[in-house]
Amino acid sequence: TPPASGRGTLGGKHILVTAGPTHEPIDPVRYIANRSSGKQGFAIAGALAALGARVSLIAGPVTLVTPPGVTRVDVETAREMAAAVDAALPADAAVMVAAVADWRVEGTAEQKLKKAAGGIPALPLVENPDILATLGHGKRRPCLVIGFAAETENVIAHATDKLARKGADWIVANDVSGDVMGGDANTVHLVSADKVETWDHMPKNDVAARLAARIASALENMP
Ligand code: CTP
Ligand code: CA
Repeated sequence: TPPASGRGTLGGKHILVTAGPTHEPIDPVRYIANRSSGKQGFAIAGALAALGARVSLIAGPVTLVTPPGVTRVDVETAREMAAAVDAALPADAAVMVAAVADWRVEGTAEQKLKKAAGGIPALPLVENPDILATLGHGKRRPCLVIGFAAETENVIAHATDKLARKGADWIVANDVSGDVMGGDANTVHLVSADKVETWDHMPKNDVAARLAARIASALENMP
């Protein structure tokens, strides 16, 4: 059972979290995916619930156990994730940790593609909806909107650029040029409009606890 609501906790708050990759189908048996394990997002959902928040976790395809006290909605594609986020609103805060596929295959094949058909199939791609930007610039924007940015270079510059583009209050930026994806630890930078904080390399569970505490104190200072 979550702790009773009170000062310093997230009792009475509804927080939306997206996590994991999305899978974008090519045909009934194949898809495009990415290396996100979902661990950081699930850890954040768990840490928020531990502080008493009502947490809606919109999860892409992952093999992780739902943290205690978290309401989970499983989705496969970016468009399903966008719809599930919309259905979960309103929320006091949103933490968008999912590694949403930027593109999907246009005109998914209804039958399995066959080699015997001759030639190599072209996979025309179209851009997926930007779930964070839609939320961050939308009418039902939560008070506190947090994005994640996985970068392999120029981490702070790219994250700062994403703050404005996505309408986010904070971007948690991490350098994924090493072995972060799928690993159990992370080095993150908390980027906001007026400052950049670099946190020590720490377990993903510790990143989650620290971020949850920051969210709790930020929401305390909001109407
Ligand atoms: N995001 C999202 N919907 C998308 C793409 C990204 O909600 N279609 C969110 C992610 O969950 C993350 C943030 O936006 O919180 C940043 O994602 P990222 O992939 O770093 O940003 P992009 O705008 O897709 O830019 P890039 O070209 O670097 O991938
Ligand atoms: Ca992207």
